[in-house]
Amino acid sequence: MRDAERGTVLITGGAGFIGRHLAEALLSAGYAVRVLDSLIEQVHGAARAAPPLPSEVGLIEGDVRNPAVVDRALAGVTHVVHLAAEVGVGQSMYAVDRYVSVNDHGTAVLFQALIERPVKRVVVASSMSIYGEGLYRTAGGDVAEGVRRPGQLDPVDADGRALVPAPTPEWKAPTLASVYALTKYVQERLTLTLAPAYGMEGVALRLWNVYGPGQALSNPYTGVLAIFASRLHNGQPPMIFENGLQRRDFVHVEDVVQAFLLALEHPAAPGNVYNVGSGEDRTVREVAQLLARAMGREDIEPEITGKVRAGDIRHCIADITRIRSELGYAPRRDFSEGLAELAAWVAQQQALDLVAEARDALEKRGLVA
Ligand code: UD1
Repeated sequence: MRDAERGTVLITGGAGFIGRHLAEALLSAGYAVRVLDSLIEQVHGAARAAPPLPSEVGLIEGDVRNPAVVDRALAGVTHVVHLAAEVGVGQSMYAVDRYVSVNDHGTAVLFQALIERPVKRVVVASSMSIYGEGLYRTAGGDVAEGVRRPGQLDPVDADGRALVPAPTPEWKAPTLASVYALTKYVQERLTLTLAPAYGMEGVALRLWNVYGPGQALSNPYTGVLAIFASRLHNGQPPMIFENGLQRRDFVHVEDVVQAFLLALEHPAAPGNVYNVGSGEDRTVREVAQLLARAMGREDIEPEITGKVRAGDIRHCIADITRIRSELGYAPRRDFSEGLAELAAWVAQQQALDLVAEARDALEKRGLVA
């Protein structure tokens, strides 16, 4: 590892998609970087081979729930970015034990070790999932709580009236609709509670749907764009849950890296949570079409299943006013250019299509209906 000019950052889960991009950016910014990662099979394949990381990165292969390994990983570290987590919303609804263990017990072990080896700042990756349904407004513009009724796709207010999805700011109260969301909220609160109690600075970033080259294409529990890309790459139609009109904010991994650098360095960040998105929202159906076009597979029509995956929310779109104004974040990556770049990268990859098996795993437990 080279000399740290600005400090040494430990990235837990740093061999993953976001962590690898972040490691490169941190090295360019003059930090030394260490990665702690257990290289799980679902992300890294049966061989559990370490992905290409810059040679200056020190990789420690180990589990964030192992106190001895975490203690070793923290030696000499000045900043921590905590990314190690299980990330599938649908899968969290049956692999409950695993999700709670890795995400929450893992964060607890990390903080237990940080009490003995405090760092300057800890930034945790939280998720927009913690909001549950995003913010809604009535036709008259009033804020309303959107509730999905059985058999209905779009949330309505308490009186059954139609609502319009609106950008969700950080002040919206969490509604934890999946085990995954619950575990992410615990990670966030552990960070913001324990860091200041031990003289450290804590920051939580609530990420929206991150995409870009390097996504885990063979992981059928990963984000929708990677899943669709893997399906199209294998000549299979993307399978769209619900009617495809659910809305999300897809944010390029480079913009997410920008947000992490700001969260690590900006004096205004400690103690706060920030939404991280692109500021633009799209339907799942639209992204399926745009991706098929970018990959030259417009001949493959997506399959609209009409089924609802347990734990999924209908709409959640990002209000990024706070991170823009307080930290100076400015998303730079255009979505169509980002898709073209993703398509060019996917074309050179091998992607196992395990999506049908993943859907069976949910269906046999009654988690898509
Ligand atoms: C995703 C991430 C979560 C992250 C969150 C931040 C994954 C698995 N989940 O959750 O870690 O914290 O963003 O916002 O990466 N869909 C389909 N077909 C599919 C897969 C998904 O139609 O094959 C639909 C889903 O029903 C959902 C939408 O696409 O309506 C997005 O799903 P997904 O990519 O799993 O993301 P989130 O639940 O938003």
